Amino acid sequence: MDRLLTGLQPSGNLTIGNYSGGIKQVINYQNNYETFLFVPDMHATTVTQDPELLHKNIRSAVGVYLACGVDVTKPNMHVYIQSENLYHANLSWLLECHTYYGELSRMHQFKEKSKLHENFTCGLFTYPVLMAADILLYDAKYVPTGIDQKQHVELARNIAERFNNRYKDDYFVVPEPVIPSIGAKIRDLQDPTKKMSKSTANPKASVFLLDPPNVIKKKIMGAQTDSEARIAFDEENKPGVSNLLTIYSVFAEMPIEAVVAKFEGGGYGDLKKGLVEVLSEKLTVIQDNYNKIMTSGIIDDALDAGRDFTEKIAKEKYETIRKVVGYGRI
Ligand code: TYM
Repeated sequence: MDRLLTGLQPSGNLTIGNYSGGIKQVINYQNNYETFLFVPDMHATTVTQDPELLHKNIRSAVGVYLACGVDVTKPNMHVYIQSENLYHANLSWLLECHTYYGELSRMHQFKEKSKLHENFTCGLFTYPVLMAADILLYDAKYVPTGIDQKQHVELARNIAERFNNRYKDDYFVVPEPVIPSIGAKIRDLQDPTKKMSKSTANPKASVFLLDPPNVIKKKIMGAQTDSEARIAFDEENKPGVSNLLTIYSVFAEMPIEAVVAKFEGGGYGDLKKGLVEVLSEKLTVIQDNYNKIMTSGIIDDALDAGRDFTEKIAKEKYETIRKVVGYGRI
C-alpha cells in the first residue's frame, strides 16, 4: 500500500476549510492507502500559544478527526502527535542544512504571515522544512492538502530530489500534493478574496466544525455575496457566491454543476438557507460523534498506538539518513 500523510495545525478550532482541504480527503482515501494523520503541534508554536489551550486544541483536533469519520480501527490508519516523536525535529535540522535561504524566502505563506507580526520567529521562516521532514520521514507518496499548502509540498519534493541527487540514491520518496478539484480554498465569509482561516480576528469570517446550528445560521446568512442577484459559479468575478456554492458541494457531496442547477434562478437567500440546512445537518452528526469520543478512552488509545507505530518507522529512516550525511561514528 502506498503511503498518504497529512496534518492539521492545532493553532485554533478546525474550520470547514480544514475539513475540505484536509480531513475529507483523508476519509475518502483511507481505504486505499496506509494513512499517516498527525497533529503538527510543533508547527503551532511558530506563533505564541497559550500552553493550556494548545494541549486542549491538540486533543480536540484528534476528537474532530475521529468524529468526521477517520477510522482508527483500520490497521492502516495511524493517528499521532508530532512532538511525541523526536525524529521530526532531528530530520528537520538535517534538511535545513539542505535547503536554501532563497527558497524559504519565496514561500507565499511566510511572506503573508511575517507581515502580520512586528517581530516574527525563526520558526515561522523555517517551518516548511519541518513540514518536509514530517512528510519525508515516512516516505509518504501522497500529501492531501488545500491549495495553500501546495507550495510547501513542492518544497518537500525539491528537498527530496536534491538529497537523492547529492547522495546518489533514492533515499527519500518524492511526495506529490493531492489537491481537491472543488474546495481547495474555502474562502473567508466576510472577505471572500481571502481564504477561511482558524485564526481569523473576525468571528463571522469562519465556520468552525464545532459551531452549533444557530451560529452556523448567523454566519452563513451574513456572508458577503455581491449585488448582481445571479447564481453562477465564477470564482474570479463572484467569489462570495462561488464560495457558498463550493461549501454546499463539499458538504452535500454534490458536483458543483448540480448545486448551481439546484439554485439557479433563485435568490441568494435561498442558497444561504439551503447551505445552512446542509451544514447544520452534517456538522450536528460530527458534533454528536465528537461529544461521545471526547469522553471515551479512544483518543489516548489511538494516539499511543500511533506514536509507537510511527516512532519505529521514523527511527529507522532517520538512522539511515544521518549516516548518509556523515553524522556520528562510522
Ligand atoms: P493548516 O493547519 O493551516 O491546515 C490544515 C489543512 O487544511 C487545509 N486548509 C484549507 N483547505 C481549504 N480551504 C481553506 N480555507 C483551508 N484552510 C486550510 C490546508 O491546506 C491543510 O491541508 N503546514 C500545514 C500542516 C502540516 C502538514 C504537514 C500538512 C504540517 N506538516 C505535512 C501536510 C503534510 C498547515 O499549517 O495546515
